[in-house]
Amino acid sequence: MAHKAVGIDIGGTGIKGAVVDVESGTLLSKRIKIPTPTGGEPQDIVDTVKDLIEQLGRTEKKEPVGVCFPAVVLKGRTLSAANVAKSWIGLEAEKLFEKNLNRDIHFVNDADAAGYAESIYGAAEKQKGLVIMTTLGTGIGSALIYNGVLVPNAELGHLEIEGVDYETKASFAAKERDNLDWEAWAARLQLYYSTLEKLFHPDLIIVGGGVSKEFEDFLPLIKIDTKIVPATLRNNAGILGAAALASGK
Ligand code: BGC
Repeated sequence: MAHKAVGIDIGGTGIKGAVVDVESGTLLSKRIKIPTPTGGEPQDIVDTVKDLIEQLGRTEKKEPVGVCFPAVVLKGRTLSAANVAKSWIGLEAEKLFEKNLNRDIHFVNDADAAGYAESIYGAAEKQKGLVIMTTLGTGIGSALIYNGVLVPNAELGHLEIEGVDYETKASFAAKERDNLDWEAWAARLQLYYSTLEKLFHPDLIIVGGGVSKEFEDFLPLIKIDTKIVPATLRNNAGILGAAALASGK
């Protein structure tokens, strides 16, 4: 297993990357962030990732590179595009990256990468049983981890509750769009997390995404039986998880 790997986290607003020590789950380089090209089209994003890897100075082809992306990723193909250009749907995305970067990559869903990182380095370290990671951002990302094993491509942000795709009501973007204060947003989160609890009976729920650093303002308002905690790796979770998965950790 490699001890160092590059992790790249592609999001709707920014593309972040760093070199990671996968043993300790720490960054070995500064974190570089480049704005996601407007429109989020595949070739533009691939070019940005190429630029980012060059800026990190990673030209050694044997060094693993993990890339995470906000869509269902099955056998290297992106099957959805909830918050990126529709042209990703059905695209052989992993191959497109590999051809342009001229190296192998490991390509996964963004929330899966973040959840995996929390399970080995963060809030769910050593947790047994079922962990559900959720990321509250432009959408709601989710990861299912059972006894440390990732069950990929759970899309629980799209649970239909009260007749709607619930990420459109409970994501952080929805809070901003609808001008919700913490209490009003927490009421929606209450419905979301109690539904998750009722359907999956997890042992631990982790709440991630940029807003999780303000967890004291909303997590105490959510009353469920399952232990629910903030993510600890914050904005680095995707980078760390993508790098860890690429290295085989
Ligand atoms: C997408 C997921 C993604 C999540 C967070 C959702 O809209 O369907 O694949 O993990 O947003 O980016």
